[in-house]
Amino acid sequence: MSEPVGRTAKPLMRVLSGERIWPPPMWLMRQAGRYLPEYRATRDKAGSFLSLCYNAELATEVTLQPIRRFGFDAAILFSDILVVPHALGQSVRFEAGEGPRLDPVATAEALAGIREEIDLELLAPVLETVERVAAALPPQTTFLGFCGAPWTVATYMVAGQGTEDQGPARQLAYNDPALFGTIIDRLVQASITYLVAQLKRGVDAVQVFDTWAGILPDAEFDRWVIAPTKAIVDGVRAQVPGARIIGFPRGAGARLKRYAIETGVDAVGLDWTADGAYVRAEVQTKVAVQGNVDPLVLIAGGEALDRAVDNAIAAFGHGPWIFNLGHGITPNAPIAHVERMIARVRASTGPA
Ligand code: CP3
Repeated sequence: MSEPVGRTAKPLMRVLSGERIWPPPMWLMRQAGRYLPEYRATRDKAGSFLSLCYNAELATEVTLQPIRRFGFDAAILFSDILVVPHALGQSVRFEAGEGPRLDPVATAEALAGIREEIDLELLAPVLETVERVAAALPPQTTFLGFCGAPWTVATYMVAGQGTEDQGPARQLAYNDPALFGTIIDRLVQASITYLVAQLKRGVDAVQVFDTWAGILPDAEFDRWVIAPTKAIVDGVRAQVPGARIIGFPRGAGARLKRYAIETGVDAVGLDWTADGAYVRAEVQTKVAVQGNVDPLVLIAGGEALDRAVDNAIAAFGHGPWIFNLGHGITPNAPIAHVERMIARVRASTGPA
């Protein structure tokens, strides 16, 4: 948290201050995950996915695994965005092969069963993981905390599960914007409390995951994506001055510029559909960017992968840039392809 400024600072933190670094610092979304045999072994020891999230010793171990194996420039806290609704009192389960299941909160009656404030006691094991990882990381490695953005978390709270088109949350936001707004406001406050706790316990910066931002029409994008994210950025910085924040509004497209300027984030994560020329001219001139190789090209490997890496370097290598995928790495990504991608980025002399 007390990051020195200037040349001694961690490379990824320097990019978040607007510097261009070469080669670009890199990490991968979902870098601790099922594509790693050591992750699968630790997960089997923990039992369920949620018990892995709430076991500080094992969660620390899986957070560090991709750092040991690949020497990434950032570790990301091992947890899930759905621990926040859990700590608000909602029932959350992960069923094998099926993804998350929650008791839906889509009515005033159901919302009455949800806490007004997050119970950080329930997240004590996660915050203990933060302390353990912070103590174990190499000094040059940035430690990222995170939360889900209110809109994305609300899509799971309202539907009770992942959905193809986030229909239940979109529908509730139209039918009863006051009720939906109450859910969003509660998530804003919970996210501020949770991110501040992560920063105070040892993360260097935080990322706000808005996986389903892109599905909203313009006006709703302003109301349910930009406004709550700005409230989180302002609320966190009121308690942790200068806190560095990455926003990931997946699918935001031509709204990335507005998102970057209006929320006040230090960097935006790009999904693989982002327009390189637009981002370079309109977004990267204002904030740092992170991304955006298609996770599926990592499965293909070979020349397709090399070309994707080179395209990202050509598009974003001129300015402040953190190399990453455009979304999480998939369980079937071959480790040899991850190694090939890393080597190509590290060996690159930069864009032409
Ligand atoms: O990036 C990281 O390595 C940090 C850990 C992390 C996880 N989930 C671990 C996880 C982070 C940052 C998340 C965020 C998350 N979780 C998001 C936003 C980003 C994204 O990926 O879209 C969302 C929407 C969730 C909710 C969630 N968690 C779903 C829908 C699922 C099931 C789908 C799946 O891949 O299995 C999860 C489970 C989950 N979260 C796993 C991991 C490693 C897989 C669980 C397992 O080991 O089986």
